[in-house]
Amino acid sequence: MQKNEIKIRTMKKDDAQDLRNIWISPEVTKYTLSRPNLTTAQTRKRLMNPDSESIVALVENTPVGVARLTKFHGRRNHSGEIVMFISKDFQSKGIGTTLLNKVIQIAKKKKLKRVQLGVNVDNKKAIGLYKKMGFKIEGKLKKDSQRGNKLIDNYCMAKLF
Ligand SMILES: CC(C)(COP(=O)(O)OP(=O)(O)OC[C@H]1O[C@@H](n2cnc3c(N)ncnc32)[C@H](O)[C@@H]1OP(=O)(O)O)[C@@H](O)C(=O)NCCC(=O)NCCS
Repeated sequence: MQKNEIKIRTMKKDDAQDLRNIWISPEVTKYTLSRPNLTTAQTRKRLMNPDSESIVALVENTPVGVARLTKFHGRRNHSGEIVMFISKDFQSKGIGTTLLNKVIQIAKKKKLKRVQLGVNVDNKKAIGLYKKMGFKIEGKLKKDSQRGNKLIDNYCMAKLF
């Protein structure tokens, strides 16, 4: 996919419906904490709130992925958390790399010293992407999240500035 085919911009309210449909798709649900009954309003609230900045990747003006940076409070206000997902049909085309690069730029602009995320230990693609972008595995959280009837281990990964 050519870089000029992908547009990145701040999330708008009207993006929530498309992003919700991506978030509840099986290929994304498998590796994220979303649930099939997630509504558009909940999606909007999770991705657009005073503590978060979400950027959207668009192809032909349709949202195909999102990355959210959430800044922590108080004595952790130097630190933030990233969540991201891309529509199945647009994965492995460099969009995740572009979005993550942009989120890292935003974190640096906010003078954050640390960005972190949780990732399922079997999510090879995501772990590969995060390592490529300078994130390090800091530890493993055992039985941290659910996938169907299974309890899944997650890595905590972080990038320091
Ligand atoms: C994980 C995700 C965000 C990555 O976005 P993407 O657009 O597919 O990723 P990109 O094409 O930009 O980058 C893929 C990178 O992953 C890595 N990668 C891909 N397949 C890999 C594999 N089998 N093993 C290890 N690393 C792999 C490579 O570093 C690759 O970069 P390269 O092509 O420059 O070598 C996306 O696939 C996704 O949304 N998946 C489902 C939901 C999800 O897992 N969200 C993250 C939860 S923590």
